[in-house]
Amino acid sequence: MATRKVLIGGGTGFIGGNLGDLLTHKGYNVTNVARMPGANNISWTNLERSGLPKSCAVVNLAGQQFMDFTKAWTPGFKQNVQNSRVFTTQALANAINKAEEKPKVFIVLTGVGAYEPSELNRYDETSPTTGHDFFSRLTVEWEKAAHVDPPVRLVIIRSGAVLGRWGGMIKNMFMPFYLGLGGRIGTGKQYLPWIHIDDLTRLILFAIENENVKGILNGVAPDVITNDDFTQSFAKALRRPALIPVPERLLNFLLDPERAMIMTKGQHVTPKRVLQYGFKYNYPRIDVACQEFAHLCPKKHPLK
Ligand SMILES: NC(=O)c1ccc[n+]([C@@H]2O[C@H](COP(=O)([O-])OP(=O)(O)OC[C@H]3O[C@@H](n4cnc5c(N)ncnc54)[C@H](OP(=O)(O)O)[C@@H]3O)[C@@H](O)[C@H]2O)c1
Repeated sequence: MATRKVLIGGGTGFIGGNLGDLLTHKGYNVTNVARMPGANNISWTNLERSGLPKSCAVVNLAGQQFMDFTKAWTPGFKQNVQNSRVFTTQALANAINKAEEKPKVFIVLTGVGAYEPSELNRYDETSPTTGHDFFSRLTVEWEKAAHVDPPVRLVIIRSGAVLGRWGGMIKNMFMPFYLGLGGRIGTGKQYLPWIHIDDLTRLILFAIENENVKGILNGVAPDVITNDDFTQSFAKALRRPALIPVPERLLNFLLDPERAMIMTKGQHVTPKRVLQYGFKYNYPRIDVACQEFAHLCPKKHPLK
């Protein structure tokens, strides 16, 4: 029988909130591990002291947002970005390894930043992670922290930019595009690995429920696009022009080149193993995805 309880580290965020809604809708009992108290929350200290709730699946989505533009890219902030991912993953892995009654599955959401940005390389789940830049090095540490002893099934989902109206990249870009002030970033030729929020939460559910799913999955849509493709599709869905490019040099100056590379550089990533497992995307194409979230006040999306 499938596990009916799920413990989510970082379940209060954009992806966590959407995942919690989907799981609750499917009849799961959801508990979040969070820094603040809440009706369905336990704290990280409580997790360390009391261990895992019995017979639950475990998912980690915790991490300080690195695109929080109110925070400067200082060594202290970078440390927080790193620790909030590595230490929370380690805390959950330790709790799993210590548990008498082991969960069946541990799912950790990392990022396609694991792969070195390139306009030439082609990446699937078998590609090596190079560890040459901050995000790639961080992801290597993050994924190492996820080590759990068998027979717990470990699934690592390397996600692209998660697209949905109320979080991540779209939340930041919505207003400039809505006001007709949007445009490509730099040359616009950099790849933009992406996935619609509904497909990402459905992929996590798929990994919880299918006992044959394990190892690395690229959490990206099969439609490989560039920043320019996204810009055209989003502007078209909003019926706005997108004629004002954002110069790469401006982003480097405002954000620091190391952080700006999330937008100015990209990777060609395909979800080879996700497709082999037979996962079906609701939003495989960027134009269809943009139609869903290109609304100022969208209706709540019906859960499937
Ligand atoms: N959004 C994307 O496009 C995207 C793409 C690839 C990978 N990811 C990864 O997916 C995860 C979730 O992303 P999201 O978009 O849902 O982010 P989000 O909305 O900012 O939520 C992040 C969650 O992490 C927790 N958190 C933040 N800082 C923390 C800290 N210092 N220590 C412990 N917990 C902390 C927060 O929980 P509390 O405040 O309740 O403690 C919150 O629930 C992140 O690890 C992110 O790197 C996201």
